[in-house]
Amino acid sequence: MKYLFTLFLLASFALQAQNFEGFYATMALHDAKELQKDVPGEVEILKEYRNEAVVYMSDNASHKLHDRVLVHGPGYIRMPSFEEAVKAVEHPKTRPDSSRMAFTISEDAAVNAAIDVVNTQNIEDHILELEGYGTRYHTMASATQAAEDLKTKWENMASSYGRTDVSVRLYNHSGTNMPSVIMTITGASIPDEFVVVGGHLDSTSNQGNNNAPGADDDASGIATITEAVRTLFETDFVPQRTIEVMAYAAEEIGLVGSGEIAADYDNNSVNVIAVAQFDMTNYNGSTNDVSLITDFTSGNLNIFMMSLMDHYNASGVHEVTYATSVCNYGCSDHASWTNRGFLSTFPFEANFGQHNSSIHTASDTFSLSGTATHATKFTKLCAEFLIEVAKSEGSLSVGDVLPNASLQVNVRQGVLTYTIEGVSETFVSMQMHDIQGKIVVNKSVTSNQGQISLPQLSSGVYVVSLTTENDKSISQKVLLK
Ligand code: BES
Ligand code: ZN
Repeated sequence: MKYLFTLFLLASFALQAQNFEGFYATMALHDAKELQKDVPGEVEILKEYRNEAVVYMSDNASHKLHDRVLVHGPGYIRMPSFEEAVKAVEHPKTRPDSSRMAFTISEDAAVNAAIDVVNTQNIEDHILELEGYGTRYHTMASATQAAEDLKTKWENMASSYGRTDVSVRLYNHSGTNMPSVIMTITGASIPDEFVVVGGHLDSTSNQGNNNAPGADDDASGIATITEAVRTLFETDFVPQRTIEVMAYAAEEIGLVGSGEIAADYDNNSVNVIAVAQFDMTNYNGSTNDVSLITDFTSGNLNIFMMSLMDHYNASGVHEVTYATSVCNYGCSDHASWTNRGFLSTFPFEANFGQHNSSIHTASDTFSLSGTATHATKFTKLCAEFLIEVAKSEGSLSVGDVLPNASLQVNVRQGVLTYTIEGVSETFVSMQMHDIQGKIVVNKSVTSNQGQISLPQLSSGVYVVSLTTENDKSISQKVLLK
C-alpha cells in the first residue's frame, strides 16, 4: 500500500512536471506559496522541507519572482533534476574533515605586503571595463565575449608577473552557453587542497536584458578578486595550497554556473577547504563596511573572517569595520558550495535592505558610487583570506617568529633530530602539527639540539615548531614517508 502510494506520488510529480515547460528549483517555502498566488498553475510545490520547498516552475514564474528582487529576493536556486533538488533541501551535507580544519593567522608579513599594494584605480578601471559590455546576460554573445576576455586578462596578468604556476581555463556548462572562467594557482606543497574565491560575471536587468551594466552586481566582485590576486603576484606570494579564482556564469538565473562547478568538484572529491564569495562590494550602504552573511555560510569561516579583520584591519589606512547580516535564502554562488557540503563565506557590501537598490536595472552603473573605495576594503579582505588559508610556501608558523634563527630537522626510524642555530635563547618545548593544524606531538625540550622519539604517525607533511621560554618560535616542515 505504502509502495503504491509512493508510486502514485511519483507519477503525479511526473504529470505535474509535464503540464508546462519549466525547471526544478529550491526556494523558501513562503516565497513559493506567494508566487503561486501571482502565477497560478505555473509553480508546483513538489516537496516541503522545514522552510524550504522543491518546486517546478515556468520561466515566466521565475521572472515574476525576479521582478521582486529589486527589493531583494525572493530568489530560487535552479536544480538540474527533481532528485538533486530534494537532495539539496533534505540532506545539507557537511564534511567533518574540512570542518575540523583550523583556520589560523600567521602570515603577517605576506598579508601586510599584499594589502599595502591594493590599487583602487585598478578596481575602478575593471568595473568600467565590464560595464562597457552593455550587458552580460548569460544568453548574450557579449557575456561569452566577457568570459573570453577575462580569461585573456587573467592570463596576461599572470604572465606579466612571470608566474609559471598559473593557468586559466574556460569552464563550459550544460545549463547555459556562457562559460565560467577559472584561474588556478597551483599550490607549491599541498596542491590537492583548494581555496576558492569567486564572483559572478553575468548580469541581468528587469528593464530588459539588452541593457544590464551590472556594475555593482557583480562587476565589483570580479574586479575585487582580480585585484586581490594581482597583489599576491606583485608581492611574489607563493601558496602552499592551490588557489582557484572563479568568475561564474549564469548566477542570475539560479546559480547555474557555480551549481555545476560545485557538483563537479563534489562528484570528483576535489578537496576544497574554503570558499569566499564576492557578490556586490562597491556600494557603501551601512555604517559598517562589511556585512558577513550568516545564512547558507559556515559559522567557522565567518568567525575566521572576523578574526582576519580584527587582526589586519582594526585601525589605520587598512581599517575595515564589520557586522553580520542575512540574505534569507541562498542568494548567491556561495550557496552552491554550501549545498554540496563545502565551507563558504560571503562578505557583502551592506546590511540586509541597505544594499544598492539599483541592481538588476539599467542604472547599476559605476557612476552611482563614483569611486572604488568600498570595493578596496573587500579586496584587502580577499587577499587576507587567500594568503592565510593557502599559507605562504615555506612557512606555517604560529606566534612570534625568530627571524635570524634556523631550524634543521630530520626524522629517521621514528626519531626526530633537531638543531637550532643563530639564536641564544633557550627553547623549552617542541610541537608537531599536522597539516590540518592539529597538534600531534607536544614535548618539552631542554636544549637547542637534541633527539625526540615520535609516536606512530601517518605519512604526510608536518610542521615542527620549537618555542622559547619567551613564547617565540621557529618552525620547519617535515615530510614523513
Ligand atoms: N547579487 C545578488 C544577490 C543579492 C542581492 C544579495 C541583494 C543581497 C542583496 C545576486 O546576483 C542575485 O540577484 N541573486 C538572486 C538569487 C539567485 C539564486 C538567482 C536574488 O537575490 O534574487
Ligand atoms: Zn543579481
